[in-house]
Amino acid sequence: MSRAQITGWGKCLPPAVLTNDDLAAVTDTSDEWIVERTGIRERRISHVHTSELGLVAAKRALAAAGVPADDIGMIVFASASPDVLIPNTASALQKQLGNKDAAAFDLNSGCTGFVYGLKVASDHLSNNPDSPVLLVGAERLTWYLDWTQRDSAVLFGDGAGAAVLQATGGDDGILDNFLGCEAEAREALMIPDFGTAMNRFEPDPTRFELRFDGREIFRHAVKGMARACQQVMERCNTTADDIDIVIPHQANERIIDALADRMGVDRGKVYRNIAKYGNTSAATIPVALTEALEEGRIAPGATILFAAFGAGLTWAAGLMRWGNRIEPLGTSDAELAPCTSTGPELIADAVEFFRRGQSQPA
Ligand code: ACO
Repeated sequence: MSRAQITGWGKCLPPAVLTNDDLAAVTDTSDEWIVERTGIRERRISHVHTSELGLVAAKRALAAAGVPADDIGMIVFASASPDVLIPNTASALQKQLGNKDAAAFDLNSGCTGFVYGLKVASDHLSNNPDSPVLLVGAERLTWYLDWTQRDSAVLFGDGAGAAVLQATGGDDGILDNFLGCEAEAREALMIPDFGTAMNRFEPDPTRFELRFDGREIFRHAVKGMARACQQVMERCNTTADDIDIVIPHQANERIIDALADRMGVDRGKVYRNIAKYGNTSAATIPVALTEALEEGRIAPGATILFAAFGAGLTWAAGLMRWGNRIEPLGTSDAELAPCTSTGPELIADAVEFFRRGQSQPA
């Protein structure tokens, strides 16, 4: 069996920042509440579509791996906020990258998308070792938000991360994954009237809401992630002491701490960047992985535990042993189109619409 190793990594965060104070100017919240209850200080607001964020992250990951786009045999685009529903976003990336024949599909398991994708990539490479996988997690979740709803508006941000996976033939790479879904609680996080459930003949068919029960999600998140982590660790005969770094989904700093405590892992081993970006759903883990590498937090041969939970409510864990190379082989000059607006300017129209109780702006 040939293990899947991450050989390239990259991220793309849109430049416009929305701080907690900016949010306090549009809804009834405060920097103090948000920092204390979530750990978030600011988030990014995208001026471009999700696919554009994903494309830049993908080009950076390909350059880091030194793999030409045309060598990729499978493109997995993990997202709950695609540009359009048909066709899939993976095909947009394939076209932009100039790749000809790769399998290309989107994966929507919410915030667990990247960890679910690691499993798909790993299984694909075990049968097709000469067919590298490009795995992207990209989101423009702020597009869904009603900025007057303080309980959800403060939590999310936009961004993308990507990884190239290859079969290296060595002992390192993805060791195991454990995925699942607790569908009984699926209504704790949903947009119930967007998609074909939407009534197209209503006077205002574009109206939809993000339904959200933060406390319920919190409870399931800690339990589900801890269970998934315990499973992969047991199956790999790995203890908390063997883990060099945990890269968890970034939804709430208190959830991250609760997970570490439940697992008996030193909190200092748990990577976190939620303060800068908030919850970017499927993008959180590849962005965090890229930043952990940039900051020298991952040593050659490190044992890494990924843990995530998301809408569904899905949960997932993955255990991997990093390879020898912690530096990118190359860099890409890919950049987003320039952004000339600030974060508050980018959300101003939406804020105005929701204040007036109107429908989602274009
Ligand atoms: N600013 C100020 N006050 C607020 C805000 C806000 N942004 N949001 C809620 N409050 C108020 C509430 O109205 C409530 O007031 P009350 O006591 O007068 O009724 C009080 O703060 C406490 O509210 P809780 O919901 O109990 O706050 P909690 O400590 O549970 O934190 C949070 C809420 C941050 C949403 C938390 O439950 C959470 O992180 N949940 C899980 C994460 C999550 O759901 N992420 C979303 C995506 S899910 C995913 O990643 C898959």
